[in-house]
Amino acid sequence: MSYTSRIDLSDHVRKEACALLQARLSDALDLEAQAKQAHWNVKGPHFLQLHELFDRLHDEIEQFVDQLAERITALGHVADGRIATTAAATTLYGYPLEATGGEAHLKAISASLGAFGKAVREAIDRAGTTGDADTADLLTQISRECDKQLWFLEAHLQAH
Ligand SMILES: [Fe+2]
Repeated sequence: MSYTSRIDLSDHVRKEACALLQARLSDALDLEAQAKQAHWNVKGPHFLQLHELFDRLHDEIEQFVDQLAERITALGHVADGRIATTAAATTLYGYPLEATGGEAHLKAISASLGAFGKAVREAIDRAGTTGDADTADLLTQISRECDKQLWFLEAHLQAH
């Protein structure tokens, strides 16, 4: 389903861009929940620092979700943030329920964030090829923030 719009992008370009955005929206919604999973369940000597780090990561991902969804609606399509859709469409790793210590949570969330970042970077090029430079730009902003957030996570794992 799509709405007519005065945006000077063809229906075809808008449809292609929205398919890219929707795929990453499902991943981002999964990732958002995974960050809370880490925030709630991490234990160990660095509990408070990691508890807060994972919550800040969650808040960044929440911004990704909103930006992706609202680009879809700006292009005249329907953003599908339903849990059933997210569960069926996500391409991320399932979050391990048994993760306990800080290192296990850092590795789990880093793996998911890394996979999300890879998919977003691939979508930048596809959006550019499709002819929607603004979606490519939005994805580029998200990709850059993913790299930064991955640094914040991985810095905890690299001091060996
Ligand atoms: Fe909390």
